[in-house]
Amino acid sequence: MKTVSITTKIAGVKLDACIFNTSGPADATLGELEIIARSQSPAITMKSCTLAPREGNPEPRYADLEYGSINSMGLPNLGYKAYIKFAARLKRKYKKPTVASICGMTLAENVTMFKAFNNSAVDIIEFNPGSPNTIGKPIVGYDAGEMDRLLDAVSKVSKKPYGVKLPPYFDLVHFDQIAAVIKKYPVKFVTCINSIGNGLVINPYTEQPLIKPKGGLGGISGKYIKYTTLANVRRFYELFEDKIQVIGVGGVYSGIDAFELILCGASAVQVGTAFLQNGPGIFERIQNELKDFMAVKGYKKIADFRGKLKTL
Ligand code: SIN
Repeated sequence: MKTVSITTKIAGVKLDACIFNTSGPADATLGELEIIARSQSPAITMKSCTLAPREGNPEPRYADLEYGSINSMGLPNLGYKAYIKFAARLKRKYKKPTVASICGMTLAENVTMFKAFNNSAVDIIEFNPGSPNTIGKPIVGYDAGEMDRLLDAVSKVSKKPYGVKLPPYFDLVHFDQIAAVIKKYPVKFVTCINSIGNGLVINPYTEQPLIKPKGGLGGISGKYIKYTTLANVRRFYELFEDKIQVIGVGGVYSGIDAFELILCGASAVQVGTAFLQNGPGIFERIQNELKDFMAVKGYKKIADFRGKLKTL
């Protein structure tokens, strides 16, 4: 039997497999990034960075849940200069593509960081213009005008291929509005979805929330959000007519989860909570499960089924 291939290309960069780590979980320090580098993740995505280092929100700020997690980390990171250094070192040692995630607090900060990453070893930039957990900062993806302003500014300076990490959308009008903005710029891909913002998980015995920031409000991830991920991947795949790629993330624990996202149009799949909960072996396991399922279906490469969701 001919072997099954799950290679892909994102923003023109070849990945040996279409399953890799998402920005956020266990990717803020060089030690954490080296664990990802040594795993089967074909790329190394780094924690969203800001201009200055950040401690993040008060703890506890993450909790595992039965089917996923809640977090309000608040972007704890070492500042962008550290990630420029890490990227050079990781590239030299592990020869894998690296992905920087930029999440400035202002337009000027974003522009400064995009410019700085132009002269770095990073292969791809994922712009995360508004995390759900930054106290006092709105989720930019829900403000089409602000998204336009930011993309206009960073497009003028970025020399690296870049994509945008998006929050989940629930109203079809909002998909149309944000897609219209993104199409104006040389955005290579969108990553769908960031966590579903501002959920609340409480402990009925102690009568307290599970996490401390924002009175317990935080982003929900994991199995709870897979169906929202699928819908967002599908809708953007259709709206972009495959001219802007879609990376799916949210609720991927198995090869079949990854298969479903690719069937809806994803060119690659990122893994977040499942990596935190299962460790770095998860990348190899999901990749093998995906290959096994593709073999059962008779698919030899992801192009054989990508985007080909059937209708009823
Ligand atoms: C965080 O709060 O640090 C994670 C949120 C994000 O990456 O957007």
